[in-house]
Parts: sequence; structure tokens; C-alpha cells
Amino acid sequence: MCYAIPGKVKQLNGRRVTVDYFGRQKYALNETKDLRPGDYVYVQGGYVLDKVPAAKAAAILRDWRELFLELEKIDAARSALPREAVPTPVSRILLKTANGQKLNKADSLALLDCRDKKDIDLLYRTANAIRHKHHDNSCCVHGVIEISNACGQQCAYCGISRQNLKIRRFRMSSRQILAAAKTAVKTYGFRSLVLQGAQDCGRPLKEIAQVIREIKNTYAALVFISLGEIGVAGLEMLFNAGARGLLMRFETSNPRLYEKYRPGCKLSTRLAHLKKAQELGYLLATGSLIGLPGQTTQDIWEDIALAVNLNPDMISLGPFISHPQTTLAGSSSVTSQTILKAMALARLIAAPQSKILITTALETLDPQARARGLEAGGSSLMLNATPLQYRKLYSIYPARAHETESLAHQIKETIALLASLGRAPTDLGINADAR
Ligand code: 5AD
Repeated sequence: MCYAIPGKVKQLNGRRVTVDYFGRQKYALNETKDLRPGDYVYVQGGYVLDKVPAAKAAAILRDWRELFLELEKIDAARSALPREAVPTPVSRILLKTANGQKLNKADSLALLDCRDKKDIDLLYRTANAIRHKHHDNSCCVHGVIEISNACGQQCAYCGISRQNLKIRRFRMSSRQILAAAKTAVKTYGFRSLVLQGAQDCGRPLKEIAQVIREIKNTYAALVFISLGEIGVAGLEMLFNAGARGLLMRFETSNPRLYEKYRPGCKLSTRLAHLKKAQELGYLLATGSLIGLPGQTTQDIWEDIALAVNLNPDMISLGPFISHPQTTLAGSSSVTSQTILKAMALARLIAAPQSKILITTALETLDPQARARGLEAGGSSLMLNATPLQYRKLYSIYPARAHETESLAHQIKETIALLASLGRAPTDLGINADAR
């Protein structure tokens, strides 16, 4: 998955590399040795991960060329904006973005609040057009390995918080994690892995660092960590081991709600953590939970604005889904439409390189969410690469989508869906002319 298509190095400027794909130029950062113009490379998440022998690259490119161009054609047709017949207040706001003007807060709130089906449709289509402009038909597909549900935190919304005494706890051994990573990379071709686990799970971070080192020594894959607040020393240790991405939401931009739902914790600490990770060089994937009790539309706008301002690699806005073994049992009410509107707005106002994730929680809420999200600004997916016996135990919310589906099945469905929409499971990096 995330079949990195080889690209040809056009230009090198320090670590910054311009890579050509079928005549399109993208930027990436070099992580390999002795790179030269004319070399063929694999890029993932904006990093050049690997060199590809020229003959092998030529064969892969020959296979891909026709399909890739065909997919691009389908996507280009599907993401073209319709000519608007009767202007509405919402279509006027959306026209601003098409003309490169910035949306103000009132515009954004009007988009989040719009109710008319035609307006909502135009919002999604405009986000889809912008997604196409910045990312072409790429859809990055990550493999998530949920390594542990043992948690020392007490987040009120989360089903694996330490307050849930009913759940069986698990912690995958290093060997199990490496085996899952091997399956994801070698058997299924993933180039982006997320090692996700609950915070303070009692495992020394040194162990995780060793696992990451082994993954990086063996495969050309991008490794994201999603292990909560591991502290500056922890971030440094895992970066030095080879991790290049951090997936951590700030959960909510409202400090009052944050302290209410994460007792004893502060939003400012979380944000400092995210900023520190970026300073260290991590790609950041962040965002919030939408639909927490007490949250207003204004809060949702603040969440989107905060996520955008952090200038992340990926924005993750997902619905809160209540878990029966929490104090918030029975209290979720958010619709998939609210989330899709938030994702679309994020696409309209985010920096070009930020991808918008279609979260598993949204897919849980709405079986059509993946297709809808992909055409409402979404350009990133997560497949569950956790061994089947542990999936149900990572129950941050109940009945998660794809919980019982084999990885092979998830991939088959994903490829079929992407192909039907003209999208390719690649992450070639940002268009060179998009910055
Ligand atoms: N519903 C949806 N998402 C949840 N998370 C935790 N609990 C829930 C829930 N009940 C999300 C949080 C956390 C991520 C790992 O899972 O945003 O950061």
C-alpha cells in the first residue's frame, strides 16, 4: 500500500530534492546517501527514503504509466468545479477560496453552519478541487499497528482509559511488533507505518526505540509514533532511532473542555509537545475530537484554525463516539456531515502540503464515509495492520470500522474504492508549484 511510484531526481539543493513523476515535479527531503540527479527514488511523506535501481524503476514506471494517467484523468474530471448557476451566500464564500482569497472567521462559521444540500455539496466539491490542485490524485495510505492498550491516563472520552477496569489489557512484545511491521511492509507494500499505543503503558521507551531502529535498518518505511506525551527526551530518543512522524491530536482547542475531559492535564503542555516535535524535525499529524459534549460550532472552528496554524503534514478531525465504559456513555450525537464539513473547511484553509485524514472513527459512524471524505478534501487513510487478536482490545470507542477485517481484505477494498474515484495509493509529496 502506498505504492511509492519511483520518481527521478531532477535537482538537489542541500537536503531538498526536486523529483519528477511523469513530468510533474514534487519536493522532498533527502534521507539517503550519495543521491545524484538522474537517480530513481521512493518518496514517502515528503522524504526520499530509498534509491531504486534504474532498470527496476523503468519496469515499475512502465507498468504504472498507463494506469496512473488513466486514474488521473478520472480524478481530474471528478474534481472539476461545476459552474454555479444561482449564486448563494455560501457559493460566494467558496468563490473567494477559488480566487485565492483568505476566508475570515465569519465565512468559516457560515460554511460549518450551512444546511442547504446544494451548498454542502458545493463546499465538498470546492474542497475536492483544492485537494486535487495540491495533491493531484495521491491518497496516502498508512498502516497502523496498535501496540498496546495499557494506559496510565484517564481521558473521560476514551474507552481504554485506566478507569476502564473491564477491558483486558495487552502489550505486544517487540518481536510481535516487528512481525506485524514485516507483514505490513514486505507482504503488503506499506511504506508508512504508525506505531500507536496508549500513553504511559509501562514499557521503557528504549524498547520502542530499538524496534524503530530495527524497522528502519530493515525496510525503507516512514515511521510515525502515536504514543501520547512521551516528553522531550522521549521524542528525541525516538527521532534518533528513526521515527519521522508524530501523530498526536490536541483533542480540543478549548482549554476548559480540555481540562474537563483530561483531568490534571493542560492544553498548553500538549501544544508545547507538538511544537517541540516539529522543532526536532517530526512530521506532525494532529487535530481534534469533534462532538465532545459541551463543544460549540465556534469551538469546532477554533479546532480547525489551531490544527491549520500548526502547519501539520496531516490534519485529523474525527468524531467523538461514546464508549459505554466511560463517564460519557450515551452522550455522542455528532453526524458524519458535521465532520465532513469540518474536513472540507480544513482543506480550504490549510497549507497546501497538509493532508486531510479520513479517520477510522468517521468510517465507524458512516459506512460511506471513506468515499465521501475522499471527495470532500480527504487525501489520507489509515488501514489497521494490528494482529487480529488485539484489534478488539484497542477499543477507544466501540465497534471500530475494519476491526475484524484482514489486512488483505482492507487493501482490496481500498484499492477498488480509490480506483473507482481515480485515486492512486501513493504519497508522492507536494506539487513543486503549490508553495
Ligand atoms: N471517540 C473517538 N475518538 C476517540 N479517541 C479517544 N477516545 C475516542 C472516542 N471515544 C481518539 C483521541 C485520541 C486518539 C488515539 O483516539 O482523539 O487522541
